[in-house]
Amino acid sequence: MRDICEFSVSVALLDWYDHNARQMPWRVGPADRAAGVTPDPYRVWLSEVMLQQTTVAAVRDYFMRFTARWRDVASLAAAPDDQVMGEWAGLGYYARARNLLKCARVVTDEYDGQFPDTGDALLKLPGIGPYTAAAVAAIAFDRPETVLDGNVERVISRLYEIHDPLPGSKPILMEKAAALTPTQRPGDYAQAVMDLGATICTPKSPACGICPLRTPCLARIAGTQADLPKKTAKKAKPTRFGHVYIARRQDGALLLERRPDKGLLGGMLGWPGSDWSGTPSEAPPFSADWSVLSEEVRHTFTHFHLVLRVWTAELPADTTPDSLTILGKHEFKPSDLPTVMRKAHDLWQGQ
Ligand code: ADE
Repeated sequence: MRDICEFSVSVALLDWYDHNARQMPWRVGPADRAAGVTPDPYRVWLSEVMLQQTTVAAVRDYFMRFTARWRDVASLAAAPDDQVMGEWAGLGYYARARNLLKCARVVTDEYDGQFPDTGDALLKLPGIGPYTAAAVAAIAFDRPETVLDGNVERVISRLYEIHDPLPGSKPILMEKAAALTPTQRPGDYAQAVMDLGATICTPKSPACGICPLRTPCLARIAGTQADLPKKTAKKAKPTRFGHVYIARRQDGALLLERRPDKGLLGGMLGWPGSDWSGTPSEAPPFSADWSVLSEEVRHTFTHFHLVLRVWTAELPADTTPDSLTILGKHEFKPSDLPTVMRKAHDLWQGQ
C-alpha cells in the first residue's frame, strides 16, 4: 500500500483553503486570520451548535437573526426561554436549543462570559459533545484538535481508501484524521477539510480533477471514490400516527400548548393533540364540532415518519382548557412553530 505523507496533505489543503475558503458570517477567513484577526468564540460556538445535523445554507439566516438579537453570550443567557425557542423554530433537534441556552448561562455565570479555550474544558459544557468541543477549540482558539463530521469522514475514507462501513469505522477515521491535523494553523485546517468535503469531495460525483488531494488520494487511484464511505444499512423507519387540534376564536386568537421541556419538540410551541403512539385515539382539548382536513401532514423525524390528521373547530369565547395557552392574533407567529406544527398550520390556512 502506498504511504500518505501527512505533512504534505495538510500543506496542500491549507494552500487550497487560502484560495477557496467559503465565506461564512461566523468565519474569519485565512487572510484576516493571518493578519491577526481572531474569531469571536461566541459566534463560532453558536454556528457549530446550529450546524450539527444541518447544512451551512440552512443555518445562515438563523445565525444572522440570533446574532442581531443577541450580540454576545451574556445577552443570549439573559433571553427568555420562549424567545430563544421561537428563533430556533424550524432548525430542528430542539434539545440543541435548550442546551444552547443552558450553556450560555453556565458560561456567563460560571466562566465570567468567557468560553474556555481547550477541547477538554469545552466538553464539560451543556450541549457540547466531542465534535463541537473540537471544532470550537480548533476554530476559535487555534488548538490542534481534530474535527470529524460527515464531510471529514468522507474525505478521510477516500484519502485512505477505507472500506469498513460507517459508523463502525469511526475510530479508525478519527485516528487517521488526527494524524493529519497540523500544529500550524489547525483552525484553518479544520475548516479546510470541512470545506473540501462540502464542495469538492462531495457524496456524489466528487470533483477529483480539481481536488488538492487528487495525487495522494488512494480511492481516486483505485477508482473507488464513488463507493466510499460505505455505510451499514439503516433500519427502516416506522410510521407513527397522531392528531392535532387547531382551535380559533372569532377574534383570531388560537389555542396552543407549550410542550414539556423533556422529549421530542421539548419546550416548543405546538397545537394540542394526541400522543403519537400509533393508536388513532381522538382526544380533542374541548368538546366542539371538530372537522378534519382532507389532507394529512407528513413529517420525518430522525427515528420515525409521522402522519398527523388535522382537526379544526371554533374556540368559544369563554373556553380556556387547562394547561393550554391562548395566543392573540398579533401574538401568534407561525414562524415560532417547529416544522411539523408549521406544516399543520399551513395546511389549515391553505385549504
Ligand atoms: N461544517 C460545520 N462547521 C463548519 C465550519 N466551521 N466550516 C465549514 N463547514 C462546517
